[in-house]
Amino acid sequence: MIYIAPSMLSADFGHLEDEMTRMAKAGANYLHLDVMDGNFVPNFSFGTPVIASIRPYSKLIFDVHLMIVDPIRYIDDYAKAGADIITVHLEACSDLDAAIAKIRRHEVRVGVAISPATPVELLLPYLDKIDMALIMTVVPGFGGQSFMPDMLKKVRTVKRYADAHNLKLDIQVDGGLKAENIGLATESGANVIVAGSAIFNAKRPSEVIQKMREEADLHPYTK
Ligand code: DX5
Ligand code: ZN
Repeated sequence: MIYIAPSMLSADFGHLEDEMTRMAKAGANYLHLDVMDGNFVPNFSFGTPVIASIRPYSKLIFDVHLMIVDPIRYIDDYAKAGADIITVHLEACSDLDAAIAKIRRHEVRVGVAISPATPVELLLPYLDKIDMALIMTVVPGFGGQSFMPDMLKKVRTVKRYADAHNLKLDIQVDGGLKAENIGLATESGANVIVAGSAIFNAKRPSEVIQKMREEADLHPYTK
């Protein structure tokens, strides 16, 4: 199953409830919520107060992508704010096992992300402890950047490892995804697709999501 996760970073922050409803009607599965601290990445977005405030207005899965230093400090807060999935960056954690364990204490799915400069080999030892691996396909920090096709090798490595070890693992890609390149991601093994600008900037987001699903169907995972 392919899950489409519009990134709220590209939403109109003045109308968050309407934007979430627009995404639900367009056929989104998750809402991807990009949290930035101006430190791990050179940009700020929003944090727990905003997520807790919007939580009652959508039934969609809240997929929280923490681009913050030492995320372990705030995991309880994001779980309480209503996250369904919490993803931390491998590069941002001094003790990744402890961060994973802390997320596990809540009824929240666990994700670990790697930025483009990080070798995928560093992620492999954690795959049996998590629910989702996030392979960044842009340098994190901003929406609207160009997809980095080189990152698909990492997606393939993770997929092969997960299959070889019988792991039930979601593989997410984030950055520069659109209908024109989603097939490259799905044929490499990705099944959770984040897209911000491609969906939010479209006149009819439902058509973009539908086109993305069609392209994904046309390009299933090939070993
Ligand atoms: C980048 C964020 C992404 C980004 C995606 O740091 O993690 O989620 O907003 O936006 P697009 O799809 O526009 O690249
Ligand atoms: Zn993201």
